[in-house]
Formats: sequence, C-alpha cells, structure tokens
Amino acid sequence: MSTKKVLMSSPEYFKVEYSINPWMVEGTEVDLELATQQWNNLKSTIELSGAEVLLVPAHPNQPDLVFTANSGIIKEDKVLIANFKYKERVGEEALFEKWFSENGYQVARIPKEFKFEGRGDAFVYGDKLIGSYGIRSDKEALIYIAEQFELEPIIVELAQDKFYHLDTCFQHFSSGDAIFYPEAFKDSTLSAFNKIFNLHPVSEHDANQLACNAVVINENVIFPSDEIEVIETIANLGLTPKVANVSEFLKSGGACQCLVIALN
Ligand code: ARG
Repeated sequence: MSTKKVLMSSPEYFKVEYSINPWMVEGTEVDLELATQQWNNLKSTIELSGAEVLLVPAHPNQPDLVFTANSGIIKEDKVLIANFKYKERVGEEALFEKWFSENGYQVARIPKEFKFEGRGDAFVYGDKLIGSYGIRSDKEALIYIAEQFELEPIIVELAQDKFYHLDTCFQHFSSGDAIFYPEAFKDSTLSAFNKIFNLHPVSEHDANQLACNAVVINENVIFPSDEIEVIETIANLGLTPKVANVSEFLKSGGACQCLVIALN
C-alpha cells in the first residue's frame, strides 16, 4: 500500500488552551511563528517524500484540528468519523465530516456512545484492523469498525495516560517492521502484534520524544527530532529516515504522525 495523498490542517489557530493529556499544561505559550515554520517544513518533507498534501480548513474555535490523524478511519472511499472523548474536540467532528463528504468519501458515523479517535488509535492493515483502546478510544468502537469494514480486529490495551493514543507509542513501516514503547501497553511484549509485525522496542528516552509518532510515506520515515536513538535502527532496515522537528506541537502531546492522515 503506497501513500500518495495525505490530509493536514494549517496551524493558524493552534494553541494549548485546555489540558486533555499530560503533555498539555494550561497556560503554556505556543510560539505560533515557530509552529507555523515547523508545520510548513513537515509539509514540504512529506511532499519531497512523494505524497500530495490536501488541507482541511483551520477553525478559530478548534485549536487541535491541526491533528488531522484523529479525524477518523479510512478504508478505500469509506470513512468512519471520530467520536472525540473530550468536549473540547467534539466540534471537529462536523468539520471533518464536511471535508470528507465534499471530497468524494462515503461518510458514516460510529454509535455516539462509543468513543473513537481515528488514526490516533486504529488503522486498516490489509484485511486487519490494528487498534488500541483504554484511554481515548473504546474497545466497542474498534469491534464496531471491524464489523463495518469487514476486518479482523487485532487490538491491544494502552496502559499510560502519557501514551494516550496508539500512534504515540507504535508505528509500522513498509518493510513489515514496527517500533513500539513496551511500557505503554498492558501487555508489554505486544504479543497480539507479534505475528503481524517484526517488533523493535524503543527506549524511554525515545518514547518521551514521541519517536513512534513518525510519519511514514512509503520507504521514508519522518521523525520529530534528530535526537532519536531508533533512527539508526530504521536506517539499518533499509528505510530512509528524515527529520522534521515539531517541538511546538509536542506541547500539545502530538508530533509528526498526529498532524497527518493518509488518504487514498
Ligand atoms: N492535543 C491533542 C489531544 O490531546 C493531541 C492529539 C494528538 N494526536 C494523535 N494522533 N496522537 O487530543
């Protein structure tokens, strides 16, 4: 599966004005000029890696809309939109729903009572739904998605508020390899994923820099900092590591992967 198009949203209204994860400290100032430079650099690194970037318009009331990964889950031309856990992000649902409808997708909703935060917690992998639950997304949502999309659910439980989405502590690559932070999972050996991916643990140092929140564009892996130890492992696997520093977005608990969702 190659990635030809991704969806992003520009950071003009990005700030940390509420706290819904341990990274977000209320009152933290975001340097919007730096955030904009970092976001533009991530966007051009993605483009240079061979993918086209489409944009969902930013909205003054939704500072976290920039994290488009959370918009939903996509299978071919079908999208199931997120049901955000916290009221602060619920307003994003209609904006994402509108964008996907206007861009040729068949849009549907998950029952309201099941919380689900999109690519943050799940993605389609061949005939499987790979997902996590326990902090932002509910297990019932993942089971519902697997039924709707006719996928086999391969799901794991998260263990720590700091690593509140699957994409904060796990990423897979075109080589069939994957990196993960063992302590972020109830089953720290991640045995449910073992048969599917060749797993490489990352250190606590890397986990705290959101190393697993790298964006994958085919064989390119875009990491959020150059001080990540696992970059060397990735290069040795024959992949092409790149870096787009997104330190302003770490103040909100997000890095490269959070700012992007793969389309196609
Ligand atoms: N501040 C956002 C939140 O807590 C960050 C979301 C990051 N997205 C992700 N896919 N991990 O909801």
